[in-house]
Amino acid sequence: MTRLTSCPDAESVAVRAAAHVRRVLEQARAERGVAHVALSGGGTPERTYRLLGEDPEALAGTEWWFVDERCVGPEDPESNYRLAEEALLGPAGIPSGLVHRMRGELGPDAGAESYENELRERFGGEPGEPVTLDLVVLGIGPDGHVASLFPGSATLTDERALCLGVHDSPKPPPERITLSLPVLRAARDSLLLALGASKASAVAATLGEPTASVPASLLRRGRLTVITDDAAAPAAPNPR
Ligand code: 6PG
Repeated sequence: MTRLTSCPDAESVAVRAAAHVRRVLEQARAERGVAHVALSGGGTPERTYRLLGEDPEALAGTEWWFVDERCVGPEDPESNYRLAEEALLGPAGIPSGLVHRMRGELGPDAGAESYENELRERFGGEPGEPVTLDLVVLGIGPDGHVASLFPGSATLTDERALCLGVHDSPKPPPERITLSLPVLRAARDSLLLALGASKASAVAATLGEPTASVPASLLRRGRLTVITDDAAAPAAPNPR
């Protein structure tokens, strides 16, 4: 069952989201001695990242991955890595050895191959087997996209890859690198954040019939926590 929480405003969403992340990290450390978290870009999670960055002790033993990245350099204002570095990794003093940056500057295909190799090297497993992250932090587009997995895209049907190159993102920039749907679904916990009325129908569709036209609806429901502000909360959620 998906856990859905609505908060009065963006700040309370961020406070609740940061508390959720800290709980997941603590449990992962207790069970396996390490936590693996993948971060999304976009504007929604920034405040959550800043709150997490204020409490470095709560982040101990964590390795930081990325859900997706734009095919730009790490210094580019569009870079998801740059967002995470400025809001969380830098303020918390996370050593670079614990940060697995998607190398967007390589371009979609070479960048995806490089990241796939890094994931396989760190997690092992056979080709075609997903790897298991402890947490993926997701935003959602008004069209129901998560990561850089867009409605109706062939990337949604790839059952073997860990990481994919995107050449035609409807959300600029067009070239990106993204974790695959099997990796998102294999994560022990998925946290989806949504702010504002423009996301309300996408959030409602996330909880409805699974369909490739709403990529978020293909996430694993039993491992999904959705935290929204009141404006993005579905009027009448129809969780499955
Ligand atoms: C990206 C993100 C993307 C984002 C959604 C929501 O690289 O753009 O990973 O999936 O989470 O588009 O974006 P906002 O949070 O800015 O609304």
